[in-house]
Amino acid sequence: MAEINFKEFLEELKKHTPYNFCDYSDNSIQRRIDKVLKEHNLQIDELLAKTKSEPEFVEQLVDDITVNTTELFRNKETWEYLYNKVIPGLKSKTNINIWHAGCSTGQEVYSNLILFNELDLLDKVKVVASDINKKVIRSAKLGEYDYKFNAQYIEVFNELWNGLKTNPKPFEHYFNIDEDHDKIIAKDFIKKIPKFIKHDLVVEDIPFYQKFDIIFCRNVLIYFNPELQLKIVRKFFDKLHDGGVLILGTHEALHGFFKTRFVKHGMVYTKSNTFHLKYK
Ligand SMILES: C[S@@+](CC[C@H](N)C(=O)[O-])C[C@H]1O[C@@H](n2cnc3c(N)ncnc32)[C@H](O)[C@@H]1O
Repeated sequence: MAEINFKEFLEELKKHTPYNFCDYSDNSIQRRIDKVLKEHNLQIDELLAKTKSEPEFVEQLVDDITVNTTELFRNKETWEYLYNKVIPGLKSKTNINIWHAGCSTGQEVYSNLILFNELDLLDKVKVVASDINKKVIRSAKLGEYDYKFNAQYIEVFNELWNGLKTNPKPFEHYFNIDEDHDKIIAKDFIKKIPKFIKHDLVVEDIPFYQKFDIIFCRNVLIYFNPELQLKIVRKFFDKLHDGGVLILGTHEALHGFFKTRFVKHGMVYTKSNTFHLKYK
C-alpha cells in the first residue's frame, strides 16, 4: 500500500482527534511532522495508527508539532509602546480585560503583568491566557523557568525598565531567583492573576463572554495559512472593544479587509470604527 502524504495524515488526524492542523502553513507543519517521524522512528502510516489508538500520544504529538518558543519581554519595543501609549489610556476603566491567545509557557503573560504593576493598575486587570498545548499551560501556571537560560532576559528586563522609569523595581520583586536549583519562579501576587486554559483557536469557539481591551496573539498566526489567519483575525476583531488593541509578532501582519480596520503602530494594531485606506 502506498504511504500517505503529510496532508492526508492531517486529514485523518482531523477525523480521529479533536485537532485540525490542515490549514497550518505547509512548510512548517511538514517539517514538524518529519521531525516527529525521525524522533519516534516511525513511518507516517504507523504514526497515524498510533494517534488513532493512543489518546495520550495525540497530546504528545500536539506538543511535538506546535512551536512553543517564547521569552520574557520578547520584542522590547512593543512593551515600551504599551507602557507609554496604550496602557495609560486604559487607566479610567474599572476593569481592563486582556487575552493572551497562544501564550505558550506564560512568559508573555508575566511580562505584561509587570507592566501593569509598574503603572499601579494591577488591581484592574482580568487576564485570560490560552494555548492548544496542555503541557505548556501546566508550565505557565507554575511560572517556573530555568535561571541560567533566562539570565539574558533579566538583562532585557533591566534595559527596558532603566529606559522607562527612574528607580524601577528590580527583577527580584517579581521573580524569586533560586540559583542553586537553576530556577526563577514568578511570585504569587502576579501568578494568582491569570486564568490559564487549554483552548484551540482553530476548532473551538471563543469561550469568553467579555470583550477585550488587549488581545496578544504573537507568533501564532505565522504558523497558519492566509485563509486561516483571516478567520482567526475576524474572531479577534469581534472580541475587541473599539479602540482595543491586537498585538502580533514581528513577522506577522494583517491582510485583506482587516488591514483597513486597524491602525498600526509597530506590532500594535488598534481597532478602529472607521476604515483606514492608507496603511503603512
Ligand atoms: C511560538 S509560541 C508564541 C508564544 C508567545 N505568544 C510569544 O510570542 O512569545 C506559539 C504558541 O501558539 C500555540 N498554538 C498553535 N496553534 C494553536 C491553536 N490552534 N490554538 C491555540 N494555540 C495555538 C502553540 O502551542 C504555541 O505555544
